[in-house]
Amino acid sequence: MGTEVKHTETLLSLRKFHISEDCGFILPEPLTDLPVYYKPWMDIARNMPELISSHSLRLRIHDMPLLETHLLQSYRELRLAHLALSMMAMGYVWQEGERETVKVLPQNLSVPFCEVSRRLGLPPILIHADTVLANWKKTDPDGPFSMENLELLLTLPGGESVRGFFLVTLLVELAAVPGLKSILDVINGVYYNDVAMVTTALDVVSQAIDSMKHALKLMHEYVDPSIFYGIMRIFLSGWKDNPSMPEGLVYEGVHEKPMEFSGGSAAQSSILHSFDELLGVQHEGHSGAFLRRMRDYMPPSHKRFIEDISGRPSLRDFVLQQADERLTHTFEQCVARLVDFRNYHINIVTRYITIPASRAKKLRENKQGLVEELDAIRKAPTALEERGTGGSGIMVFLKTVRDETKDIYISQSTNGNRVLPDAPMTAIQKAATELKIE
Ligand code: HEM
Repeated sequence: MGTEVKHTETLLSLRKFHISEDCGFILPEPLTDLPVYYKPWMDIARNMPELISSHSLRLRIHDMPLLETHLLQSYRELRLAHLALSMMAMGYVWQEGERETVKVLPQNLSVPFCEVSRRLGLPPILIHADTVLANWKKTDPDGPFSMENLELLLTLPGGESVRGFFLVTLLVELAAVPGLKSILDVINGVYYNDVAMVTTALDVVSQAIDSMKHALKLMHEYVDPSIFYGIMRIFLSGWKDNPSMPEGLVYEGVHEKPMEFSGGSAAQSSILHSFDELLGVQHEGHSGAFLRRMRDYMPPSHKRFIEDISGRPSLRDFVLQQADERLTHTFEQCVARLVDFRNYHINIVTRYITIPASRAKKLRENKQGLVEELDAIRKAPTALEERGTGGSGIMVFLKTVRDETKDIYISQSTNGNRVLPDAPMTAIQKAATELKIE
């Protein structure tokens, strides 16, 4: 009976934060179309790659009627509208690359975009919650969540790599779901002083982080680094801390002064923020400030979930107080897997950003015999060479965040042994250490 009550509380709590039992932070069954009144938006949003490559997107947006937003009634309609409008905004700003950006987003786009964003409590820019969490459908509705059975609703330039990038990230989110659900069991277990319950639930979190890493590996199979770096990345970039848009962007008809927003990044995923808060990882300084700011780019109820976890009694203190061998081992394993995930993610960033950025620089300097496949890299925006689309200085940031995760090992306080050693340096990391981006 006791366990049943605890379980019920857990389920209720997830619902309270609009977190789905099956999909976690992913929007369950996103709508694929809006009411017919919004056809002018959807016609454009469904043809972004073509309109951008023919340099006609800006003209189409200028000709678009200024539509009212009150006919958007349900939450899922609003999320699809945000996805469509944010894709249009990114395409509008970056259609001509980093050199011919715009200073103003025209009012027939900016006014409805800001209204929809205000109603959702989201910023008026493309975010992880758009491109990944609300941008999918199953080809066969009864089939599995697999790369073969998933499609994007809307896309950007970059062909199959865009599909791969957003859908692999979706699978990483999905892999986290059992762990996400177990967070509340961990919290309840600490509350009820139930060591067995905490240990079991924490083990699920640990396994979920491991599954996330396995899902992340699919990136290599589905996303081409030159396409990611040279073509896709600019369309995810924002107008904050971005040297190509130093003044930000005026949202015509909404604010006279330019506004600054960071671009889309999985740093806006609520998953790792939740695990960090659960385990007690503290992010300080610039990286901490950046990560805290990223929470303003999440659906407000997901941000509240993270804040709720952080307000609970410390799990790490509980583990230290109990001094239970199995619990301590499970906690250490969980931290080790989080460090491991972050190391693997650093490898990915090295392959998809650091190495292409270095090549691009060399190609520009040498101005010689370009291999065709590198052409995209050569044309890639220079302003973002050292920065993530969210605007962070990449490697220092990611390594700081990884090292702050290591700081919470219990073995640091008790001289015990770590469960997993740090991953040895891979060939990609070794190659990257020899590269320098000034
Ligand atoms: C090709 C694939 C990927 C690339 C190139 C990439 C790149 C980056 C970059 C540059 C940052 C720094 C923040 C910024 O300015 O945007 C970052 C942060 C982050 N990314 Fe990724 N990312 C990729 C895939 C993913 C996936 C699939 C996830 C899983 C949800 C993820 C989760 C994170 C998280 C949580 C952060 C914040 C730092 C941390 O907590 O460790 N990334 N990523």
